[in-house]
Amino acid sequence: MTTLAGREVVLGVTGGIAAYKACEIIRELRKEGANVSVILTASGSQFITPLTLQTLSKNPVHTDLFNLISESDIGHISLAQRANLLLIAPATANIIGKIRHGIADDLLSTVAMATTAPILMAPAMNSDMYAAAAVRENMEALVERGVTFVEPGEGALACGTTGPGRLADTGKIIEMARILLYDKILEGKKVVVSAGPTAEDIDPVRFITNRASGKMGFAMAVVARRFGAEVTLVTGPTRLPDPPFLKVERVRSAQEMGNAVAAAGENANAIVMAAAVADVRPAAPAARKIPKNELMEKIDVVRTDDILANLGELKRNRVLVGFAAETNDLEAKAREKMRKKNLDAIVANDVSRGDIGFDSDRNEVKVLFSDGTTLDLVKASKDAIATAVWRAITVKFMRA
Ligand code: CTP
Repeated sequence: MTTLAGREVVLGVTGGIAAYKACEIIRELRKEGANVSVILTASGSQFITPLTLQTLSKNPVHTDLFNLISESDIGHISLAQRANLLLIAPATANIIGKIRHGIADDLLSTVAMATTAPILMAPAMNSDMYAAAAVRENMEALVERGVTFVEPGEGALACGTTGPGRLADTGKIIEMARILLYDKILEGKKVVVSAGPTAEDIDPVRFITNRASGKMGFAMAVVARRFGAEVTLVTGPTRLPDPPFLKVERVRSAQEMGNAVAAAGENANAIVMAAAVADVRPAAPAARKIPKNELMEKIDVVRTDDILANLGELKRNRVLVGFAAETNDLEAKAREKMRKKNLDAIVANDVSRGDIGFDSDRNEVKVLFSDGTTLDLVKASKDAIATAVWRAITVKFMRA
């Protein structure tokens, strides 16, 4: 279950070439269970038809401020009240200016004025328009009033120029919608999450690493952000792109990860070590490639520092969460790690199964808490697992 499920999203589509991307936005919102009602402005309807938006949203598309049928039934006030979120994508310079100045001369600008729901705007326009003082000032004023913007991306624009102005990626817009709609159970909290494997260099071409993909740690970071936390994600080498709206620090070795986590975690409320830190590293990485016939004698390995155990020794009031990847005796081994490292909770998963864990998008875990309780989470997406784990941690250890 995601928190977009069952939520009412009113999607305003204004007149720009990016209006066709509203189709993808509707599809993604509906995929997560949101109910989408579209308001199409007059200029928006020059770029995309009401029929397309209606077919995809499975709801009537609203276009007129004074429509006799919808006014008796739904009406602009009702649309404004029903919304859990008003998303305007694409948002033109015109709609940004109108909402900033309190002009309510069509259905969308009227609903924007009447709603108490959060407003999220994804601007799309020519780069010079986007840089224009009027647009900048209008956006700044709206941010002051609590409106959220997902900034446009850079790239080739339909007008033939290149620069900022392209509608942000759908994934980024939907992620901000989630951030706005999730309960703010971690508001005001600072969270550090580690993810991925570490890589311990043997020489310039070889290194010791493991199979961790980083997906579970990334999910823990992204979900903490949705719950309102200020998040730093410290990740070892992974193929995953930086998640939007949080701070990402890329590191390579266990030592770099230890330093980054310690620095970011200094005044954190919670530290989650989801990384699969290499247990050993070459004592001294060679500056030059080691010839293969010398490898056996030249690789002298030593243990890496245990980042989590070190944090556990200086625990203070930080909530510490570990991950345990096991192939056998899951619960007993995980409980022992929690005790030894002085943790509040440990998330244990069975890595002997091919259908979950490493590199999979799904996981099935058992969460053990220091108070002796456990929580079994059935197989679900790593996002859903991360959501349940954070809810449990928050309820047990982080309530204000
Ligand atoms: N961890 C750490 N620093 C290390 C090794 C592990 O912080 N050098 C953290 C991991 O991020 C994870 C937890 O400790 O949260 C895992 O505990 P660990 O005892 O290392 O698990 P395994 O590597 O599975 O241990 P073992 O091989 O002994 O089963």
